[in-house]
Amino acid sequence: MKGFRGEILSLSHDPAGAPDAVRHEADGLLVVEAGRVVARGAFAEVAPRFPGLAVERLKGLIVPGFIDAHVHYPQLGRIASHGAQLLDWLERHIFPAEKAFADPVHAAGVAEAFLDELLRHGTTSALVFGTVHAASVEAFFAAAEARELRMICGKVLMDLGPEGLRDTVEEARSESEALIAKWHGRARLGYAVTPRYALTSTDAQLAVAGDLLAAHPGVLLHTHLAENTREIAEVAARFPEAADYLDAYDRFALVTDRSVFAHGVHLPDRSCERLAESGAGIAVCPSSNFFLGSGMFDFAQAERHGVRLGLGSDIGAGTSLSLLHNAGLAYQAGLPGGHVLDPFRALWLATGGSARLLHIDGEVGLLAEGQEADFVVLDDAATPLMARRTAGASLAERLFALQILGDDRAVRRTYVLGRCVWDRDAGHGHA
Ligand code: GUN
Ligand code: ZN
Repeated sequence: MKGFRGEILSLSHDPAGAPDAVRHEADGLLVVEAGRVVARGAFAEVAPRFPGLAVERLKGLIVPGFIDAHVHYPQLGRIASHGAQLLDWLERHIFPAEKAFADPVHAAGVAEAFLDELLRHGTTSALVFGTVHAASVEAFFAAAEARELRMICGKVLMDLGPEGLRDTVEEARSESEALIAKWHGRARLGYAVTPRYALTSTDAQLAVAGDLLAAHPGVLLHTHLAENTREIAEVAARFPEAADYLDAYDRFALVTDRSVFAHGVHLPDRSCERLAESGAGIAVCPSSNFFLGSGMFDFAQAERHGVRLGLGSDIGAGTSLSLLHNAGLAYQAGLPGGHVLDPFRALWLATGGSARLLHIDGEVGLLAEGQEADFVVLDDAATPLMARRTAGASLAERLFALQILGDDRAVRRTYVLGRCVWDRDAGHGHA
């Protein structure tokens, strides 16, 4: 058993219209045993319950580990690829890079580098795209299991993909089934059925995705939705009978409370109503939406309909794995639609909101008693300018400054199951 003493902040539920969601101890104590939080509260109240407890003082703001609700590990090396919107960017930069994941050695190397980067950015859980190759998912799960991380991944289904990056209806079914049987529920891992998007799967393959989802009650559905206007026009042409893009998925039973749709930049109200009614949600990906010129997520519309939301980096279209930075861009995306994203709500999206979207909120995201002890220690004075801005500031101002000015430099330490896996000032993790 070990105690961590410092300033602790989390959100116990969505703070939209509910200020009592903020849980903050200026001088707090977090008690961890066997990787779980066994107690948390004001130091003066909790410490006497644990006489003789070894306590480490942590300098900074302790928050739950960030949860990236949409990211592509095979695209790590293609971040910052110049010159195109979604469909051309995929053809020019992404599909060639993903072909290399036919090689399991390459996949294993990128999986390790990706997990190093996630932890350096304070992200302890994620919903992750592999590639069409089952071996890419094997490599990712093996690397995540060795590090005892809570991660969700899936083999990409794309039987209409380009030459060399295509599977078949039967491979989609049999390889997904085998991966689910081997990995889903093992250690801290979970599986997501992952059709790339509506344009890269035949109707028959989308039907297989629906079958897999129905057959495996704990498994998620993970795909892209309404990201780019040209993409949306092509979906409308391909599925003339569908009411809108979401309906194309709905016709294959892919819209459920376990469905996570990335982007949702251009949604008719009908889609928002259907998302809210089904319990499906959107992984908002602000840096990607800016980078590919896709547009800005309409937070006001999503809020009107009560759509469930999380926050995603969407690397390699995203420009930063930092969910602090993506939270800052989410604020900037909301303003044109008249929505002022509260910094506590932005922190909720990056932690408990994403956890809820990914159905892992029973285990992570709240830093509450009984949860797994995945947390990060933030430094709101990581740069001279941040130090100037946050000196003497309120908690809300400091949190907002972390989101607008902060990134991996502001992540002083990352803990997984109570173990330090990243210490910025040492350059590595330690026991
Ligand atoms: N839509 C289909 N595939 C992709 C992808 O790899 N990245 C993004 N951002 N959108 C997609
Ligand atoms: Zn994506």
